[in-house]
Order: sequence, then C-alpha cells, then structure tokens
Amino acid sequence: MTSDKRGMHGIWASRWTFILAAVGSAVGLGNIWKFPYITGENGGGAFVLVYLLCILVAGIPVMIAEVLLGRRGRMSPIHTMQAEARRQNAPRFFSGIGWMGAVSGFFILSFYSVIAGWTLAYIGEMASGTFNGADATVAGETFGNLLGSPWVLLGLHTIFMIMTGFVIARGVKHGLEDGVRLMMPLLFVMLILLLGYAITTPGFGQGWNFMFSFDFSKLTTESIVVALGHSFFTLSLGMGAIMAYGAYMPSEASLTKTIFTVAFLDTLVALVAGLIIFPIVFSHGMEPAAGPGLMFQTLPIAFGALPGGAWIGTAFFVLVAIAAWSSAISIAEPAVAWAVEKGIKRGTATIMVCVLAWVLGVGTVLSFNEWGDKQFFVTETISESVTDPVSGEVSAKTLSSSFHLYANTTDLKAVPLAEGTERAISGKTFFDILDFLTANILLPLGGLAIAVFVGWLMRREDSANELQADETVYNVWRFMLRFLSPLAILFIFINGLL
Ligand code: PHE
Repeated sequence: MTSDKRGMHGIWASRWTFILAAVGSAVGLGNIWKFPYITGENGGGAFVLVYLLCILVAGIPVMIAEVLLGRRGRMSPIHTMQAEARRQNAPRFFSGIGWMGAVSGFFILSFYSVIAGWTLAYIGEMASGTFNGADATVAGETFGNLLGSPWVLLGLHTIFMIMTGFVIARGVKHGLEDGVRLMMPLLFVMLILLLGYAITTPGFGQGWNFMFSFDFSKLTTESIVVALGHSFFTLSLGMGAIMAYGAYMPSEASLTKTIFTVAFLDTLVALVAGLIIFPIVFSHGMEPAAGPGLMFQTLPIAFGALPGGAWIGTAFFVLVAIAAWSSAISIAEPAVAWAVEKGIKRGTATIMVCVLAWVLGVGTVLSFNEWGDKQFFVTETISESVTDPVSGEVSAKTLSSSFHLYANTTDLKAVPLAEGTERAISGKTFFDILDFLTANILLPLGGLAIAVFVGWLMRREDSANELQADETVYNVWRFMLRFLSPLAILFIFINGLL
C-alpha cells in the first residue's frame, strides 16, 4: 500500500550531506543555549558526566537504530513505523511510535521558535552596540526588557516560524542542503574564536572546574532525568527527526561511522559552549544557575569587551539563529513528510504544521511575562533560619511545605510571613511544562520504544542487512541496544518517578 511513497522526498547528495544535515539538526539551541543553563542549574561536573554517559549508552545506539529504521522505510516516521511494525509482527503499540514523535515535534517546535526569536532580537541588539562595554547589570536589564515585551516576543516567534516554513516548503534537497553546507563550518569557526577569548578571562579555571570536577553530592534524581532527556533532545532523538533524515540517506553510506561523527560534533559543540559561557559567568560574578537567560546574559558581556565585539557578536547570533533554524526544520519535517505522503501539497502541509506550532507557541511567549506567575506543580516551603548555639552555624529549618497542582505565585507571595521566616516557591510555567514533558518524558520514551523495537522485535538479519557493519561493531551495538540502553532509560525513569 505504501510502496509508492518510498523515496518520494528525495535523497541527500552524499554521505557528507547527510552528516551536515544531521549535524544541522542536532546542533542548535540545545547545545548553545540549553546545555550550559541546565548544567548551571544542576551543579556542573557530575551532571556533565552523566550527560556524556547517557549520550554513549543510550543516545548513540538509539540514534543508529532510528536512522536505520528511517533508511529502511524511506518514508515519514509515521508511515515507516506503521509499515515496519507490521512487517515484524510487532504489537500494535509500536506502529504508533511515529505518532507520538509527531506530537512531541509540535510541542518542541512551538517553544523552540520562541527561544530562537530571542536570538533574532540579539542580532539587532549586538549590531546597534547595546553591549559595548556592558557589564552584568546592562546585560541582565536588556534581557529582562526583552522578556517583558510579549508583543516583541510574538513578532520574533512569527518571523522565525515563517523562516522555518520557508525552507521546509522548498523541500529537503533545495531547502536544507544549501543552508547547512555554508553555515555549519562558520559556526564552528566562531565557537573556536570565542573559546579563545574565554581562555583569556580570569574565570577560565573556575569555569573549567565547574564543568569537569565531579561533585556527586550535587546530583539529584531530577538532574539525572534531565541529563538523560537532554541527551535525546540534543541528538534530535526519540521523535522521528533523525529518522526522517535517515529516510533520505544514500543506501551505501556507512551508518555507524556517520552517526559517530554526528554525535561527536554535537557533543563537542555543547562542551565548547559551556567552556565559553562559564568562564564569563565566573569572571563577572554571575550566577551559573540563572536559567534560560544564561547565554543571553553572559555572551554579550564577552562581545562588549572585545575590540570589534559588536560585529563579532552580531555574526555570532546570526550563526546561532541559523543553527536553530536548521534544527527547527528537522523538528517539523516528520509531520510535513507524513502529510505529503497523504497527498497534501508540501506548501500546504508546511503551513498547517507551522500554524499549529505557532499557536501553541503563544503559551511559551506568555510564560515569560503575563503568565509568568501562573504555575503548575508548585511547592511552597516556609523556613526559618536557626543559629546553632554551640557552633554559631546558621541553617534553614523547614517549618512547612505545601504542594499545589496549580497556583498563582503572586497570590502566594502576597500572604504575609511570620517574622524571621522565609518563603521559597518553585513551580513550572507553561513553557517549563512543555520543555519537561518533551525532553524528559516523551523523547526518552520514544527512544526506549525504538530500542525495544529494533533490538528485540526486528529480525536480526533485517537490522544486520541495513547496518552493513562488521560483525563486532554490529554485535556491540545490538547488545547495547537490547540491554544497556533500555535498562538505563527505565532505571532513570523509575527512579525519577518515585
Ligand atoms: N537537537 C536540537 C538542538 O539541540 C533540537 C531538536 C530536538 C531537533 C528534537 C530535532 C528534534 O537544538
């Protein structure tokens, strides 16, 4: 029934084009924006180590499985999974993996576009010289002003979504290939340049230690879940993006080598981004746990201090925007390819997908201003500081702690406190929920399903045929996919839920 759809979207010009496109998908806001800030929030080195382990144990084996499935199916992930699940006589659940991925894709695209819009704003800010000689205060205020303007954010979100739609509508070959070929190398050059600057800052040693000295006491179960989720997010796994790209991969290209290259480059970019950002954080007495604003509040200071920094900074944000652009395209591709296979014109399909994601994105826009205090899963703890009479040490003693499924944090804060007590509130905004749900739940679940499917349900000769690797490589990969990857994902999940 579906054989007429096979390969209807075109094939990459060569193995290298696939690598470029896959790196274009993998390297994006996840590496430059998200990785540094979650590393900051989760205490540094130990988190980085867990993240690297997750890439190795779960990310790479699942990535190979996903591309293998895509290339075998040569269709959108939804149709590929339906066809392949039938061919392998797998339980029905597995034919739905593609659908789950498409849903995750909508969620991700909706907020991804909003954050990418911030990078567009920073192109303008850099070019107009806002940050010349700027300190942490100026950088913080500029960012705060941006987040406080929902209309500006909405406009930028709209522009970015149109940019994304434009490339997708042109098709993978013409839209995607040309873009990534030029931009990816430039981004690398720029990162190396910035790393050179970071090395000269007084905070470099501290930044390095923050990222690479392992203090396991800082590691919580939630950090481990976040590290696992991020390893999927950063490699574009668990939702079909890389499977869709695999569908356009030439048959003779070596899968394992190709994927190692992609994963290596992606990890390298993330680590370098961290090594640029944290030295600046420490050189300027900033907070590593600043959250989503981290990149936007640190890098401008670096540019402001460099001769010609306004220009370098402008170029840098242009490149980050392009990296985000090439990722956003891949997030939307599975849904668009599916619609095209259903007989809808590529242009129309693109508009449908982008409009839907755009509407959902409005929630993320508002999360940073109007809806900032409307939060879910809110815990409020009231504590008092007590001074130990013997040692004189001051510590916080929790007096009460309450949980609300939903709360308006402004209302919570309005309730007066007893003297000498303090209140801490933590909750999740609309954006936080989408981010958490996709990266930490849906993507790892998608990855788990793919590992089980390819590792356990797909006939050995089928995967061996598609992989075309030598015996040892194949066996190592299959072992990891059957045992290590699913167990690691399950273990982290179960621990995280308890
Ligand atoms: N990997 C991309 C990044 O790190 C984001 C992404 C997630 C792309 C899921 C495709 C699918 O920015």
